[in-house]
Amino acid sequence: MDTALHADLSEQTANQRTPILVVRNLNVTFANDNGGLRALQEISFSVFQQEFVCVLGPSGSGKSTLLRLLAGLLVPSQGELLYYGKPLSEARYSVGFVFQRANLMPWRTVLQNVSLPLELQQLPIATAIARAREMLELVGLQSFESALPRDLSGGMAQRVAIARALVHDPDLLLMDEPFGSLDALTRERMGAELLRIWQARRKTVIMVTHSISEALFLADRVLVLSHRPGRLQLDLPVSFDRPRQEDIRYSPAFGEMARRLRRAIAGP
Ligand SMILES: Nc1ncnc2c1ncn2[C@@H]1O[C@H](COP(=O)(O)OP(=O)(O)O)[C@@H](O)[C@H]1O
Ligand SMILES: [Mg+2]
Repeated sequence: MDTALHADLSEQTANQRTPILVVRNLNVTFANDNGGLRALQEISFSVFQQEFVCVLGPSGSGKSTLLRLLAGLLVPSQGELLYYGKPLSEARYSVGFVFQRANLMPWRTVLQNVSLPLELQQLPIATAIARAREMLELVGLQSFESALPRDLSGGMAQRVAIARALVHDPDLLLMDEPFGSLDALTRERMGAELLRIWQARRKTVIMVTHSISEALFLADRVLVLSHRPGRLQLDLPVSFDRPRQEDIRYSPAFGEMARRLRRAIAGP
């Protein structure tokens, strides 16, 4: 099928759904000694339920800032962030966050690391442990529940971090270059693993990555931010069939979209 037509169709279906998140005319300026550093400028986009959105952009383009806004950790200087039509500050919603480093507690076992968010929410310990076990099974680490973080490979530690981010069943999974510290092959395997988890849990995911091919392989849509101040340079629907097969990476449509993304990242 022609990719342009495919893209149109997926845009149409997207338009018929209600967005889970609406970001409108977002501006972020950080205070500094020279009248402020503008990090994000006039960003507008919507995210639909169960959508997998990747964010690309040069270093310093405001990708992490955007995720912090979506997590409610930062308030925009101007603009709106709506969760099902309500300002984020008033909406009841939860996020799971995965960073480039797993940041596991070294003295807690894998299971105890995953159950921690629930323990902090004062859930009964038996419930917390049962839910943590379910998540470890989801990421394929059930046989490592008694291991300590120092015994894990980088990819395994990131899978624990993903299990921990999902254990409280968040509305939104935010990931900031989660596979950035992994070698290329582990990274591809983690991408496929993440797709499997996403398909099983049907979460809405917003993931920052530096890798164009990772974004195209994973996402329903790729947003590209420009050099600072970050503006939305491109909002590209990606409509390869799911479940995705590895060989789409070698298709002409994939190559063409990769070129568009690369041009958008390089800027005008
Ligand atoms: N808390 C902060 N205070 C001041 N400047 C910040 C702060 N957070 C980020 N910045 C600046 O905003 C810009 C965007 O940062 P960031 O969102 O981390 O970019 P990216 O994740 O795309 O590399 C950078 O120039 C960064 O130095
Ligand atoms: Mg960043």
